[in-house]
Amino acid sequence: MLQPSEIHPGIGTRRGAMEPTHQPVKGKSLKHPAPLAPKIFADTAKIEEIRTLRDGGIITGVTTNPTLLKAAGAHDWDSAHQIMRDIVKLMAPHPVSLEITELDPVKMVEQGKRLAGFGPNVVVKVATGGYQAVDKALDPFTGLHVIHELWKADIRTNATLIFNCTQALWAANAGATYVSPFLGRLADYMYKNDTPERAPGNSLFFMEDHKAPAGGPERVGNTPYVALHGPRMDAGVRLINEIVTVFCNYNIHTEVLAASLRNAVQLSECLVAGADIITVPAAILMGVADHTLTSEGMTSFVKDTQVFGHQ
Ligand code: G3P
Repeated sequence: MLQPSEIHPGIGTRRGAMEPTHQPVKGKSLKHPAPLAPKIFADTAKIEEIRTLRDGGIITGVTTNPTLLKAAGAHDWDSAHQIMRDIVKLMAPHPVSLEITELDPVKMVEQGKRLAGFGPNVVVKVATGGYQAVDKALDPFTGLHVIHELWKADIRTNATLIFNCTQALWAANAGATYVSPFLGRLADYMYKNDTPERAPGNSLFFMEDHKAPAGGPERVGNTPYVALHGPRMDAGVRLINEIVTVFCNYNIHTEVLAASLRNAVQLSECLVAGADIITVPAAILMGVADHTLTSEGMTSFVKDTQVFGHQ
């Protein structure tokens, strides 16, 4: 768990420079108490889930990807586009991330512009990197170039599949509106692959993957994956903490959108770390108002009220 001293003191000031989560309502005297609260998005493409969460005032945005669209019933481009359009309309004016699937930069920009045409609340999701893993012939900077082109065209982007702070910085430099670190996948990876007998660190690779400098000692340990050391279990939230720290230090207004959540504990940790937005699967959001002790307390209040009879 992050220590209080590790939380950046400038988080509130940075949030103050961003678009409010809850806009002032004309004619209302009771002001909203949490205008700059972190935004909670639903990480789903299922329209009924989105409707319930929107109507309950739980979310102010949605993130989708091809996997989520498939899970929502998309089986060809027509049905995928229809689902996207329905979500964009339902959520307006709140942001909805729709992901680019093309790999050629020219086609990616065209697809981004087409998706942006679905509504003014669309944010175009672009994979930050990984292009050469798909095709060696691709430019490794494809995602960054596309983000920059879309920025030039005044189209908001969400730089996705972020697993370290430098990817986040490069995406921000390219003009990304959001960066999406996948803390759940990182935590999963650490759980499976980190090696406890080595020195602690949050590593996706080991020291022996890197050549020791000539004459330097051959060290064996987990390379710190994020700059701030910490126990392995903190891998996911430390990634959020590190990006937020850098963005605070350099007054970067790209919003840090914590993604790929697995449980409510990670949600709380992201809040503490200063995430601007947290996108959460519907199943976790459905439980945010509950806690075992809340349920116990409610049960006894309701039971004790019965002695008062009818009002
Ligand atoms: O928003 C990103 C998210 O959908 C990825 O989640 O569960 O596939 O790691 P997951």
